[in-house]
Amino acid sequence: MASRVASRLATRVNGMMPRPPVSPAANMMRQTRHFSATACTLKKDVIREAEVPVSVYQPDGKRSSSGAAADHFKINVVQNTPADAPEPSDMVQALTKSQYERLPKTIRDMTVYDKVVIVTGGARGLGNFMARALAEAGAKAIVLFDANQELGDASAAELNQKSGLPVSFFKVDVRDDAAIQAAVDAVVQTYGAPDVLVNSAGIADSNIPAEVYDAAMFRRLIDINLTGSFLMSKAVGNAMMKANKMGSIILVASMSGSIVNYPQEQSCYNASKAGVIQLGKSLAAEWAKYSIRVNMISPGYMDTALNRVPALDAQKIQWRDRTPQARLGGVDELNGLCVYLASDSSTFVTGSNMIIDGGYTLW
Ligand SMILES: NC(=O)c1ccc[n+]([C@@H]2O[C@H](COP(=O)([O-])OP(=O)(O)OC[C@H]3O[C@@H](n4cnc5c(N)ncnc54)[C@H](O)[C@@H]3O)[C@@H](O)[C@H]2O)c1
Repeated sequence: MASRVASRLATRVNGMMPRPPVSPAANMMRQTRHFSATACTLKKDVIREAEVPVSVYQPDGKRSSSGAAADHFKINVVQNTPADAPEPSDMVQALTKSQYERLPKTIRDMTVYDKVVIVTGGARGLGNFMARALAEAGAKAIVLFDANQELGDASAAELNQKSGLPVSFFKVDVRDDAAIQAAVDAVVQTYGAPDVLVNSAGIADSNIPAEVYDAAMFRRLIDINLTGSFLMSKAVGNAMMKANKMGSIILVASMSGSIVNYPQEQSCYNASKAGVIQLGKSLAAEWAKYSIRVNMISPGYMDTALNRVPALDAQKIQWRDRTPQARLGGVDELNGLCVYLASDSSTFVTGSNMIIDGGYTLW
């Protein structure tokens, strides 16, 4: 099939097959369809033999060592199985003042030295690992907001113990604007106005067809993922404005805000993350005049508790198969981009939605 498509394309390229006249736009669409269909087909048709049969005939018709006309044997093929995500480090080494001062300017700009950082959803998963990374990148203080009291408290204690930095935990639900305001006010009093907000709190519902999606569930997810991103940005943005801070707000969206996942049906999650991306772009445009930057990180499939549910095991095989890197992302694989966006090395980056997905959205 692949070779038939390829030879048909080659024939056309060589101009041997007459083409009906088509408009340039229709022509472009047709070529695009051809290209993606061919890429998918080629991927399925890739041949992967475990062994290669070999026949060796000696010169001048000499018999082989066994007396036969030829030696027949097989050689094994080493299969390049894609590696899983690297294990995240369990250590947190806070950047010291003397280390910071010895860094060349370019690297110094890539730190968050002396900045006050708030991370929502910081009790576990991607948010927790971004908080650890910001601690290593020089943060003055780390504040975790999360709805999970037990986990949030334990994570704050662990981060404080590992990094030696001041770390606070506030049990805040990102739907609760009054609680958010009180918590942000307390952060300002304790550590000074925040320089960085990472909004990672979020939930996912999947495998719910739209025609049976319960309206209350739909509203709840939008309230946490989208309204929560707005309420957090508003409270922290105001604190940054009041203190004249050149702040950086990072909203964790998802590739689901730009594509529709397959095979699981999850219209509400996808809509919520598309909303987060467009919210972030709008805030970036409105708040550039206050020197506040707003950017989005859009992860693909990541290996976190959110996805470690038995009901998703079968689908995960398909997710991997549709990801060029053939794996899920590691829980710490947003860290580098998060630190970059929080730091002064990205001062001209605002309103950007950056996808980290092992190439998923390429196919
Ligand atoms: N894991 C993935 O594959 C993936 C892919 C794309 C995007 N994301 C997004 O990344 C973010 C983090 O995901 P994760 O995999 O680390 O999830 P996670 O479930 O491990 O962590 C999410 C954290 O958010 C907290 N949280 C949930 N609802 C909250 C609320 N109402 N108020 C305050 N805190 C609340 C939870 O307690 C938890 O600690 C989410 O926004 C998620 O949508 C995840």
